[in-house]
Amino acid sequence: AADRARAAIARHTRLVPDFPSPGIAFKDLTPVLADAEGLSAVTTALAQAGGDIDLVAGIDARGFLLGGAIALQLGVGVLAIRKAGKLPPPVRSADYDLEYGTASLEVPADGVDLHGRRVLVVDDVLATGGTLNAAIGLLEAAGAVVPTAVVVMEIDGLPGRDAVESAHRDLVLTSL
Ligand code: PRP
Ligand code: MG
Repeated sequence: AADRARAAIARHTRLVPDFPSPGIAFKDLTPVLADAEGLSAVTTALAQAGGDIDLVAGIDARGFLLGGAIALQLGVGVLAIRKAGKLPPPVRSADYDLEYGTASLEVPADGVDLHGRRVLVVDDVLATGGTLNAAIGLLEAAGAVVPTAVVVMEIDGLPGRDAVESAHRDLVLTSL
């Protein structure tokens, strides 16, 4: 499944030169997920890497697209980890650093019991690891266990994997 996913990613990823800054070639996954084979191959490969879990949590925004499809394949439910200010109260939130300033992710503090649940966290891209670490920390603070996290792509030359693995020693992080 991973080979099928990598082929679809190679075929459909759009390279945007000099974005977000000169000399950087931005890899846009939008056409991969808009393609039937791409969506199927990517979410099947990520679901297989998910392991033994009982809930999928997708990170705002493209983690939602992936998370729902992965959850259906694994026969579990899905939770949206949202950017600040979108969920009704009460919420649990975690701040994380951006290149300039900070942002927050939130999950419901009521209505979904996360205590003791094994949660697979899903996002599209891993860069510095700030977003993924905040999401994992939020779920753990709510009593969940996060044995696995999956992303479609890691950005070369950034310490995202190190940041996540050093903060969460037992977590298995998979990218395609
Ligand atoms: C992008 C990407 C990841 C995050 C990775 O999201 O979708 O969620 O950055 O970066 P990090 O590893 O350095 O935290 P972004 O915050 O740009 O917003 P979006 O998902 O709403 O597009
Ligand atoms: Mg994002």
